[in-house]
Amino acid sequence: MDQPLQSTLPVMDHHWLPFTNNRLFRQEPQVFAKAEGVRYWTHDGREVLDGSSGLFCCAAGHGRPEIADAVHRQLMTLDYTPHFQRAAPISFEFATALAGLLPAGLDRVFFGGSGSEAVDTALKLCLAYHRSRGEGQRSRFVSRQWAYHGVNLGGTSLAGMVANRRDFSGVTCAVSHMRHTWSEEQRYSRGQPETGLDKAEDLEEICRTYGGDTIAAVFVEPVAGSIGTIVPPKGYLERLRAICDAHGILLVFDEVITGFGRLGAPFAGQEFGVTPDVMTMAKALTNGTIPMSAVACKTGIQQTIIEAARGDRPEFFHGYTYSAHPVACAAGLAALSIYRDEGLFERGQAMSDRFLDGVFGLRNLAQVADLRGYGMMAGIQLRPGAVPGEKGSRAQRALFDAGLHVKATGDALIFAPALVVEEADLDRMLEVLQKVLGRADL
Ligand SMILES: Cc1ncc(COP(=O)(O)O)c(C=O)c1O
Repeated sequence: MDQPLQSTLPVMDHHWLPFTNNRLFRQEPQVFAKAEGVRYWTHDGREVLDGSSGLFCCAAGHGRPEIADAVHRQLMTLDYTPHFQRAAPISFEFATALAGLLPAGLDRVFFGGSGSEAVDTALKLCLAYHRSRGEGQRSRFVSRQWAYHGVNLGGTSLAGMVANRRDFSGVTCAVSHMRHTWSEEQRYSRGQPETGLDKAEDLEEICRTYGGDTIAAVFVEPVAGSIGTIVPPKGYLERLRAICDAHGILLVFDEVITGFGRLGAPFAGQEFGVTPDVMTMAKALTNGTIPMSAVACKTGIQQTIIEAARGDRPEFFHGYTYSAHPVACAAGLAALSIYRDEGLFERGQAMSDRFLDGVFGLRNLAQVADLRGYGMMAGIQLRPGAVPGEKGSRAQRALFDAGLHVKATGDALIFAPALVVEEADLDRMLEVLQKVLGRADL
């Protein structure tokens, strides 16, 4: 960047930042004013490498002119269409392009505006499906400890990260939680752990307790992302699939982070060879440029709901003002073209070994307690300080000061650079991690 964009900070009193300690932020603001490729620049012109693709959104890197041009063209052609009883050609075009990437059989797409909306849409879609086929008693959901499924009330009900649900009791729906799959013997395991398959039996136990025929769906992140990259044990997702099939329960993969090549294949379902009935996606759907999410379901699920509808009423009483926003569709189509034309998923796959070698090379650093990783996604668990989460917060700030943006959750860092990252930039990111996490006084 040639010169600082803006050396003074804006007035910061009015915008209440999400998932932020706003008091601390005002004392030590971390403000990005520009981005390009895998780099951010702060308001005073300091370069900060992007080690988390923003928030796991910008798989193709920042500032892609192809997306900017497509968005501009769409704004000048058709800036908005309501999608209740109306439509724009571009949403059909985008859904068709997406269907070509999705796991076989999942080819019906419902659009929303965020990952949280996708999760709530998926919850309602599962309920509507069972009701349509005369199994309205299926109203319970199953999720997992440490899960993150967004912050709307449905997603908060599914949440397994305690802080995300603690203050919101009384408004959540019936959810049983399986145990998370991490255990001590998995420490420093690269790829899918050998142990932990038995945790899938928690689902059988929940079926025994409540009756398998009362459960509508099981929601899992195929790789649990926000908690710090917990990779499923070998055979675990397959076993969940088998138990769901045995009890007529729908299996939902929340692929808001894992979608679009983060793990290698376009989606985790293909990467692990396990096909869910329903899946959610967002973030890299538009390369993070315009808020948008999608829920894909098997053809038969949509057909069942449509066929059960009476008269000319809508068959699914659900939708958002911004569902399938034409400008977001334009951004999404442009993002998918970049992914295809640049072979980005294959690029991520090819870079993964070097990435994971680098991550697992951090093993002996003073602050590192565990490492986990798959594809282009890794979790760096830090040695906790006196108060849980304090070390993660301190590390995140120290990394920012040293020129690297990485998302922290509690005492875990989630390292997931863009799939376009060059080897030299990846090495620079790893050098910053080495330097900061090697500090005994952090
Ligand atoms: C697995 C998963 N589901 C849902 C969400 C919620 O997405 P959003 O923040 O766009 O609402 C996230 C966000 O990180 C996520 O990781």
